[in-house]
Amino acid sequence: MDLGLSGKKAIITGGSRGIGLYTGALLAAEGCDIAFCGRTPSDIKAATDRINSAGVGTAIGFQADLESEEATRAFAKQALEELNGVDILIHNASGFDMAGDEEGWMRSFQVDMMAGVRLVDECLDALKASDAASITFIGSMASKFHFGRPPSSYGAAKGAMRVYANDLAQQYGKDGIRANVISPGAVWFEGGSWDQRKQESPKFYAAVEKAIPLGRLGTAEELARIITFVASPAGLWINAEHIAVDGGQVAAVD
Ligand SMILES: NC(=O)c1ccc[n+]([C@@H]2O[C@H](COP(=O)([O-])OP(=O)(O)OC[C@H]3O[C@@H](n4cnc5c(N)ncnc54)[C@H](OP(=O)(O)O)[C@@H]3O)[C@@H](O)[C@H]2O)c1
Repeated sequence: MDLGLSGKKAIITGGSRGIGLYTGALLAAEGCDIAFCGRTPSDIKAATDRINSAGVGTAIGFQADLESEEATRAFAKQALEELNGVDILIHNASGFDMAGDEEGWMRSFQVDMMAGVRLVDECLDALKASDAASITFIGSMASKFHFGRPPSSYGAAKGAMRVYANDLAQQYGKDGIRANVISPGAVWFEGGSWDQRKQESPKFYAAVEKAIPLGRLGTAEELARIITFVASPAGLWINAEHIAVDGGQVAAVD
């Protein structure tokens, strides 16, 4: 199936590792030019080299800490300038607050929520000018069920994202802009948070695996495929949705 991504332009936050990197690589393989950000220069360089050496769409990486409004807006402006517009905006980075302290709540608010709001603000005119405009937020199944951790801002911020995405879809559908949230369940990839848990708490990891009907965690490639499809022109009729991608990990109907 042709996803219609050839020549499209995508901005991804947190594209230097994990799900963001796999998504950027797949979008580029489908012919998109991408601009992404992260905080760690060595990871940004490695991700840029990896995508550019594959030789279809191009990638440019920027160092930006999305906890800062100034850095977030500067990243969006630079990305728009480099790409000369944008069709696909993917807000993937997270503050990953698991502590639930004041600092964690503030980080979630800035990174998960406000960075998304600021990126949309900066990219809105360019998205309106696109004939394939799509905004995707990467949420979490933590916005849907209690995972057994002490209360923190992580799931709450992902839940707020779902309300905001729906507002965007309702408001800007008339301008041809779609907005969706894709919520992964537990996803394993080398060096990721579940890889770390697998090594530090193998019994807990095995229990999570066993609880997933398919008997294993998802992979970053599997997430990237779904994110890419939803963001692409082929996913045009998917709008204002919250899409769970968890292999059946959450045993609920809705
Ligand atoms: N992995 C899972 O099992 C899972 C499950 C549910 C939901 N998710 C969601 O999926 C998304 C990606 O998760 P992941 O596991 O792929 O994460 P990851 O491997 O930790 O990668 C996160 C990416 O975001 C960047 N980043 C983090 N904080 C940033 C900041 N303040 N400013 C700019 N960039 C920042 C990281 O680079 P630097 O650290 O260098 O900045 C990296 O590129 C997140 O929204 C997460 O909540 C993941």
